[in-house]
Amino acid sequence: MECRINNFLFLRMKEAGFHTISSIIMTTKKNLLAVKGLSEAKVDKVRECAYKISNSSFISGLEVRERRKNLIHITTGSSALDELLGGGIETSSITEVFGEFRSGKTQLAHTLCVTAQLPKSVNGAEGRVAYIDTENCFRPERIVEIAERFELDPEEVLDNILVARAYTSEHQIELLVHIAAKMVEETFGLLIVDSATALFRVDYSGRGELSERQQKLNRFMSQLLKLSEQFNLAVFITNQVMSTPDGSAGMFVVDPKKPVGGHVIAHASTTRIMLRKGRGEQRVAKIYDSPMLAENEATFEVSSGGVIDAKD
Ligand code: GTP
Ligand code: MG
Repeated sequence: MECRINNFLFLRMKEAGFHTISSIIMTTKKNLLAVKGLSEAKVDKVRECAYKISNSSFISGLEVRERRKNLIHITTGSSALDELLGGGIETSSITEVFGEFRSGKTQLAHTLCVTAQLPKSVNGAEGRVAYIDTENCFRPERIVEIAERFELDPEEVLDNILVARAYTSEHQIELLVHIAAKMVEETFGLLIVDSATALFRVDYSGRGELSERQQKLNRFMSQLLKLSEQFNLAVFITNQVMSTPDGSAGMFVVDPKKPVGGHVIAHASTTRIMLRKGRGEQRVAKIYDSPMLAENEATFEVSSGGVIDAKD
């Protein structure tokens, strides 16, 4: 079978966000049919070729283990927090951090922007970073300070971070297509979405809009997961908490706050970290309903050089 498509179709597919073989495998036939110029016969052929080239069918458990050796754990800047996470933020999966305002979510994200660029020998991913900023909280000045702590050239570190300010949830979803195009060209180690849920809450705030919101959020999360696997990328998202509205969590719950996004976020996130404030600059991270990690806690500190181990 000849697996070749003409230039015109190649461009149409790229425009629609299909840059790689795996992006074709990871989508439905329906989505491919939506690409202008792709007839049903062409779609069938494209899919058949993609499956053939990528050899994507069953593999043995040994091979799965072999592939998992390619996963990288990116350091958070705190050895206690790294240990809690089994070595750091893992690639090919989504790590979610949630907690109240000023609990350190954005500071952790900024630290990772720098550590993801470190050599693999010191728990970096040797890759570029993409930052989707929905709350206008990306601060280059913070990156400079953190880069200096890790003895990296601040200019170079900033140059390696691509920042996009998202204004609506639709825009936030569209940005993933743009970033996928960049990721085909260069190695990225980390994609941050800070915050993943805030714009969805704003755009679908009406009572009757909850199911639509969850549906859209689900699509976004599933695209994030695909990107993470496709490019062996660590996806790091931040999330807010809300008070349990009717007290249904019970009167004796110490902290009745729950992460936003319900089952959609819960299912898509591989690792969930709950943050709370401790004494002074200290923060406490706790693993939240993980199938892999124990529900332990770690204390770290926020400093001018980013996340560090707690001093006492
Ligand atoms: P929201 O986005 O509002 O929900 O909060 P967040 O969880 O993202 O909080 P963020 O990560 O922005 O944490 C802010 C806190 O980090 C501040 O209250 C400070 O305690 C701390 N922080 C920020 N910058 C510095 C710094 O340069 N030095 C030190 N020591 N602490 C800092
Ligand atoms: Mg923040």
